[in-house]
Amino acid sequence: MVLVGFMGSGKSTLARRLGRRLGLPAIDLDAEVEAWAAASIPTLFSDFGEPVFRSLEAAVVQSVTHGPAAVVATGGGVLGRPASRSALRASGFVVYLSAPIDVLADRVAEGKGRPMVIPGEDRLAKMRQLLAERDAVYRAAADLEVDTSAGTVAGAAALVAERYRRACVEWERGHG
Ligand code: S3P
Repeated sequence: MVLVGFMGSGKSTLARRLGRRLGLPAIDLDAEVEAWAAASIPTLFSDFGEPVFRSLEAAVVQSVTHGPAAVVATGGGVLGRPASRSALRASGFVVYLSAPIDVLADRVAEGKGRPMVIPGEDRLAKMRQLLAERDAVYRAAADLEVDTSAGTVAGAAALVAERYRRACVEWERGHG
């Protein structure tokens, strides 16, 4: 299963919760990129630039989508590369975690360093513009959309797990 969505949509938190619930490993693509590069994402952006980060991210997507079943939390910009988009789409059930822009902006303000949203810039305007570009792409890739601004993480996990199980049963029926 693959979780896509904007920064602050709750992908990593939900992936851990779903992993426990479904008995699958939870993989965080950002953490994998950092481990492969032995550098933090802010350092990769500042020392090498976004294109190098995106190439590493695309390589990690290929590796993870060829590996064993897992719940994969992606970075918010991962679907920008067509090869990553099709690999993630082909790897199974894709969930778009959405939330209103003001909720995302509040969560990102509190969170880890995110170089796509530079401190001092008009953060909300930048996020609004990025989300406007990406929203349709997330939606087109997804089997299911869940608004993470309403309800609890446990509630979202229960809903996604149920829909995932149903999709697995339907897939078995179609291929059995
Ligand atoms: C990015 C989102 C980040 C991380 C990188 C770029 C983006 O991941 O991959 O800073 O382009 O939206 P999160 O969505 O987990 O914050």
